[in-house]
Amino acid sequence: MKYKVLKMLKESNEEYVSGEAISGLLNVSRTAIWKYVNELKEEGYAIESSSKKGYKLVNSVDILNEYEIGCNLKTDIFGRKIYCFPVIDSTNNYAKKLAYENCAEGIVVVAEKQTSGRGRLGRTWDSMSGKGIWMSIVLRPSIGPEDVQIITLAASVAVVRAIASATGIRTGIKWPNDIVLDGKKVCGILTEMNSEMERVNFIVLGIGINVNHQIDDFGKELSNSAVSLRAYAQGQFSSFGKNEEVPAFNRSEIIQNVLYELEIIYNKIKNNLTAEIIEEWKKYSVTLGKRVKITSRREEYEGVARDVTNDGKLVVEGIDGAIHEVVSGEVSVRGIMGYA
Ligand code: BTN
Repeated sequence: MKYKVLKMLKESNEEYVSGEAISGLLNVSRTAIWKYVNELKEEGYAIESSSKKGYKLVNSVDILNEYEIGCNLKTDIFGRKIYCFPVIDSTNNYAKKLAYENCAEGIVVVAEKQTSGRGRLGRTWDSMSGKGIWMSIVLRPSIGPEDVQIITLAASVAVVRAIASATGIRTGIKWPNDIVLDGKKVCGILTEMNSEMERVNFIVLGIGINVNHQIDDFGKELSNSAVSLRAYAQGQFSSFGKNEEVPAFNRSEIIQNVLYELEIIYNKIKNNLTAEIIEEWKKYSVTLGKRVKITSRREEYEGVARDVTNDGKLVVEGIDGAIHEVVSGEVSVRGIMGYA
């Protein structure tokens, strides 16, 4: 009901709507409307109240909730049920809990802030409040565990497309699925699965996108390897001698685009069109042709990244000429000249 009130306020285009009109249309008391308006204010919406004229939404800031994400969603299945939290330990943890409880495919969990955001290889993921997109989606593909790698690569292609359509920024992909800008990481993807020998029960695809951070938000440790879309855009802008602030990107719109592109690419996987996905992945790759260092629990070696197989393995030609096919699970890949 709260979001029905929000919808009415939005549709009035910054004009006052009387409490009486809202309560009449929604068939709830004016006291209830007052309560919902207060809840919306607590979420961060700027709503002016006048005893004579009613309520007016002054501006729509970048707030993440089920309504903002759901209202312009163009998907059939992904994001049709969204759980939004102001704070959570990890959206992947919550999505896994829902998956164990047999939730439907396509359920999405989003949080403004994660207190224990997780990255690949047991790393932590910095997930400060209000600046990024921290989201997870539950998938139930009919594939074997050995084919999961393609989903991870496909997700990175979907994110590149979504960022480009929502912001105009062209990102690249560092194998397997880090999204980068100018050699710094702007998005990471954590794929976790529950499976039996021959079949995947569910996959939780966790996506973290640094969206509206200022450079200073990353702190000393991360500022050399991480960037946000806004900080990047600000840098581009200043390099043209323009000093105005780049406005914050609308995170809901980026999420809508991510879900839309994910659904398209997921349907391609279902229709066995993985070769197409790999071709597109290669177009965005910043890894292929580069010297890389591969580090796993068992070994460490250097070589040149030559190709990606149709099931998503990285083909590396070692210094000794040996050809290795690398699976992403437990491996870290570093460019010899820096992170990417
Ligand atoms: C990586 O590059 O190491 C993967 C980072 C994945 C971060 C996202 S944020 C949303 C989801 N919840 C988590 O705890 N991790 C993923």
